[in-house]
Amino acid sequence: MTMAYEQPQVRVRAPGKINVFLEIGETQPDGYHQLATAFQAVSLYEDVVATHADDFGLAVSGSVDVSGVPVDDRNLALRAARLLAAETGYAGGVRLEVLKHVPVAGGMGGGSADAAAALVACDALWGTAVGSARLHGLAARLGADVPFALKGGTAIGTGRGDELSPALARGRFDWVLVVSEEGLSTPEVYGALDRHRDRHRLDIAPARAVPAVDSAVLHALRAGDPATLAELLRNDLQAAALGLRPDLAETLELGESSGALAGIVSGSGPTVAFLAESPEAAVDLQTVLVGQGLDALLAHGPVPGARVVG
Ligand code: C5P
Repeated sequence: MTMAYEQPQVRVRAPGKINVFLEIGETQPDGYHQLATAFQAVSLYEDVVATHADDFGLAVSGSVDVSGVPVDDRNLALRAARLLAAETGYAGGVRLEVLKHVPVAGGMGGGSADAAAALVACDALWGTAVGSARLHGLAARLGADVPFALKGGTAIGTGRGDELSPALARGRFDWVLVVSEEGLSTPEVYGALDRHRDRHRLDIAPARAVPAVDSAVLHALRAGDPATLAELLRNDLQAAALGLRPDLAETLELGESSGALAGIVSGSGPTVAFLAESPEAAVDLQTVLVGQGLDALLAHGPVPGARVVG
């Protein structure tokens, strides 16, 4: 007799993110940096389809280059599934199909979205029903950006980025994302920032003890005001990313002289995010950038976090 599962398959969608503000403080004893960030979830999504299986298995495909994504136990979606099974005592396995649309190693939290989606998908498939607080705890153990991929919307992240508080946001923000063929490693970008800070330690004002999101940023998000937000975009990893990838400076200049309100490196890069005044302005900017040979995608935010879609 074959087993009749109530849920033969679960499909979960989780968003990529842009850090519209990212202040990085001191390195902590665990090697992580204390930070304060304003996250916005945007409409580039990862889908994870979970199917019952005896063992743990994974396949990865998508509209972006997935050749750099590990398919072994280093894969964050697979680690998420194994962690949930270990924590709940679930004895079976799962087959995960990851469909990627967020640039790989692009600074937009694609791997974190995979992990968040896998947690939600396995929890629904297995009927483990761990609840949102425990799910958040598991997400934080998988990576600093995973809790936000669960929550989505707009949120303030402190600590490593995993301590979230929701932020009010109105309206819609339109982005044009310039994707690079070559990714950047997040630890390498943080390392470059540390080296830069060590070299110039005497020249800079001591970092504020506790980083904090500028209240003007919260105000612009709450007002749904892209022009004001554009003036306030900040990413402390940008200089380090530009140091490793000097060509990104040209991309930033090109977008800013072609109608963007402002541009910023997304997270640890190398994706460059341009904020546009309207959906139409975003399409116009995308057309110009594509005409210059760049790979430019449209996205808008905020959008919801990881959720079951089928
Ligand atoms: O948590 P996650 O695996 O996404 O972090 C990737 C890397 O980014 C870490 O290994 C660390 O080098 C760096 N990082 C950091 N401080 C943070 C978040 C990430 O140094 N708050």
